[in-house]
Amino acid sequence: MTSAGTRTFPFTPTAHPTPAARRAELLVEPGFGQVFTDHTATATWTAGRGWHDEAVRASEPLVLHPAAAVLHYAQEIFEGLKAYRQPDGSVALFRPELNAARFAHSARRLSLPELPVDAFLEAVRGVVRADEAWVPEAPASLYLRPFTVATEAFLGVRPADEARFCVVACPAGPLFAGRDAGLTLWISAELSRAAPGGTGDAKCGGNYAAGLAAQTLARTHGCDQALFLDAAEHRWLEESGTMNVLLVTADGDLVTPPLGTILDGVTRRSVLELAAGHGLRAVERPVSVEELTAGCADGSITEVFAAGTAAVISPIIAFRSTAGGFTVGSGAPGPHTLALREELLDIQFGRVADPRGWRVSVD
Ligand code: COI
Repeated sequence: MTSAGTRTFPFTPTAHPTPAARRAELLVEPGFGQVFTDHTATATWTAGRGWHDEAVRASEPLVLHPAAAVLHYAQEIFEGLKAYRQPDGSVALFRPELNAARFAHSARRLSLPELPVDAFLEAVRGVVRADEAWVPEAPASLYLRPFTVATEAFLGVRPADEARFCVVACPAGPLFAGRDAGLTLWISAELSRAAPGGTGDAKCGGNYAAGLAAQTLARTHGCDQALFLDAAEHRWLEESGTMNVLLVTADGDLVTPPLGTILDGVTRRSVLELAAGHGLRAVERPVSVEELTAGCADGSITEVFAAGTAAVISPIIAFRSTAGGFTVGSGAPGPHTLALREELLDIQFGRVADPRGWRVSVD
């Protein structure tokens, strides 16, 4: 449909842009996912025509028939990535090709039409260029949410013959505002997020809907988020509601559960690739709750943190479960967690060199 660098999402500016003074007010403390920019990228897919009507234009409500397949059978996928204001005023994305590839993977799993990687990148770039004035200064960023929903109106269960792709954008502060001292996770022993052969490795709304009951339970136990275990044995760590989980051991391993039923997180992958520079060996292997509990008690696990685009790197300082609670290390964010977080943010915000080519200009 498109080749790199071509303008396949023609831009029509909104007739009603947010006044600059109002935008400046909104950018002061945008929160996370509450304030939206003026423009949206969009494309329509039908079984007969494939992708068409690509555009970047004024953000407006989606009009859906009440029988649209997404509303009944949750045929939906999404992505999350950020645009970062650079010291020279330009704007860069972080490894967006990984989001594009994962989006295609999710589309295959949910029987939705696959958007070519180049089109995904062009749509994202198009929105950022259209709403460049909405990209905040560090430490905030512009969060981008590409998604595809099945729009065909019918009530039989089959892959829909019509779908809509959109990218919306919102200036974003921290996902866990005021929780810099560290998060406490509720170990969800009964409620699972994903099972082998299910959709755990796809980024689809259903996975997040399935996690909400555990998140509510976590909150009732005074925790910030749930930590999901495997569905078969309720024993092996998987991921937290919106992020991957990593542990640092006293003998220098950076350990994280293997892929399969969890999301192949861009931040997870980047942190594993940065590990060696921090004197850590990256290890992907199963970790049991027993190992986590015993390791935090005897000091063989020194740090735990969560990784995600929205969460960045968030220290985890304690766990609770029906069996009780325990603290990680001294109960404060650990040095490797903080150093990895700083390096990641320095790369994303253009404060250090980028030998791996992770920053991608929007121009
Ligand atoms: C992201 O980190 O981009 C996510 O998708 C998490 C989100 C559900 C808040």
